[in-house]
Amino acid sequence: MALSICRDIRCLHQIGQGYTCSASALVPWGHYLGEIVSYDFDAMTKLLFVCLGNICRSPSAENIMSHLLRQRQLDHVECDSAGTSSYHIGSPPDRRMAAAAQQQGITLVGQARQFQAADFERFDWILAMDDDNYRDILRLDPDGRYGYKVRKICEFCRHHPDTEVPDPYYGGTEGFRYVIDLLMDACGGFLDWLEEVSVAS
Ligand code: 4NP
Repeated sequence: MALSICRDIRCLHQIGQGYTCSASALVPWGHYLGEIVSYDFDAMTKLLFVCLGNICRSPSAENIMSHLLRQRQLDHVECDSAGTSSYHIGSPPDRRMAAAAQQQGITLVGQARQFQAADFERFDWILAMDDDNYRDILRLDPDGRYGYKVRKICEFCRHHPDTEVPDPYYGGTEGFRYVIDLLMDACGGFLDWLEEVSVAS
């Protein structure tokens, strides 16, 4: 069945408490959504970062974001992270990743857990590290009810051309350092974007 999408920019749809998108069409299997154009960033906001193992990239993103939130005094925003796999459930962040983060003054804390469908309701924004994570998250939402909350973190980079956060697990020290630099950029960009699209609903 063909998907019909309203592309009228004036067509603003309230798609959930606090969110507005620019295009929307009801389809038999759910609700197709266009770009989010506004979000109530004054409200309590919960962010979830997701990678494969939840021991390298997503705990780094979570702890970097918490660091930026403290700097910006945004204490109504909470962070968590999860992995799409069950490989490392219960493990602390990878030592090599923690060392690279510590060099930038960021201490990695956390314990790996697996992403679950209930996270779609619990979080306001779900930020995937790479294309595989993005697809694996959306696979748990077959009716497409929550797609508007799921983004790839590299969409928000301002200084790096990357479209994915590279998996550092099987590489060397430089790869871990790069992940930290990239995530500093992406997390800062995401907060700037939330502030830009922010409107009180
Ligand atoms: P992460 O890195 O997804 O950034 O936590 C990985 C950690 C473990 C594995 C792969 C990637 N692994 O294959 O065990």
